[in-house]
Amino acid sequence: MRIVKLFVLTLIGSFLFTLDSLAQDHESAVIEICIVCHGEDGSAPNFDDVPIIAGTPAPHIEEAMYSYQDGARRCIDEPAMCEAVFPLTDEEISITADYFSSQNRVMSGEPYNDRLAMKGRRLHRDHCIRCHARPDEKRAEDALGIPLHGQRSSYLRYAFASYYNGNRDTLIPEMAEKLKLLTNDDIEALINFYASYKP
Ligand code: HEC
Ligand code: HEC
Repeated sequence: MRIVKLFVLTLIGSFLFTLDSLAQDHESAVIEICIVCHGEDGSAPNFDDVPIIAGTPAPHIEEAMYSYQDGARRCIDEPAMCEAVFPLTDEEISITADYFSSQNRVMSGEPYNDRLAMKGRRLHRDHCIRCHARPDEKRAEDALGIPLHGQRSSYLRYAFASYYNGNRDTLIPEMAEKLKLLTNDDIEALINFYASYKP
C-alpha cells in the first residue's frame, strides 16, 4: 500500500515537474522573441533604432505593449515589433515586462553637447520632470511617463517624430500640450540632456 502511494506521489511529482519545465520553456520562448531585437540585456546593442528597455518599470513596458496591440502606437520603421506583440496574451506581456524590468538599466552612453544638455535640463525641469522620472528613482514606476534618461537618442528622435506626424497617440492630453510648446531646437536640447545622464 505504502509503495503504491509512493509510486503515485512520484508520478504526480514528475507530472508537476514536467508542467513546471513546460511553463519555463514557454516563458523562455516568449522572451527569446524580444531578445532578437532588444538584446539579452535589454540594451539592444545590435540595433540603433531599437529602444533600451532594461530596467524600465514593468507597468510602463506593459502600457507600451498594449499601445502597440491596440494601435495607439504604430511600428512604422520596424513592423516586426508590432507583429511580435500582436499575438501575445496578457500573461505573456506580463512575463516579458517582469523579465526586462528586473534588469539593470543600461545607459546608451552616447556623446552629447554640454551647452545643449544644460538647456535641455532646464526644459525638462520646467515641463517634463513630473511625469518622466529617472529610471533609478523610486517614483519611476508610479510616474505617468516612461523614464527617458539614458534612452538612445535615435529612438527618442523617432519617438518625438511619431507623436508629431500622428503615428503615435499621446495617451495624456497634457503630454500633447507640452509637445506643442517645443521647437526643434528644444527637442535636440532635451535629447542631449537625456544622453548626458549618468546613474
Ligand atoms: C523586430 C525587432 C523587435 C522585436 C522582435 C521586439 N521589439 Fe520591441 N521594439 C522594437 C522597435 C523597433 C521599437 C520601437 C517601435 C516603434 O515605436 O515604432 C520597440 C519598442 C518596444 C517598447 C517601447 C519602449 C519605449 O521606451 O517606449 C517595448 C516596451 C518593447 N519594444 C518591448 C518588446 C518586447 C517585450 C518584445 C518581445 C515580445 C519585443 N519588444 C519584441 C523592436 C523589436
Ligand atoms: C502629464 C504627464 C506628462 C508630461 C508633463 C510629459 N509627458 Fe511625455 N509621456 C507621458 C506619457 C503617459 C507617455 C507614454 C505615452 C505613450 O504610450 O506613448 C509619454 C511618452 C513620452 C515619450 C516617448 C517615450 C518612449 O519611450 O517611447 C517622450 C519622448 C516624451 N514623453 C517626452 C516628453 C517631454 C520631452 C516632456 C516635456 C517637454 C514630456 N514628455 C512631458 C506623460 C507626460
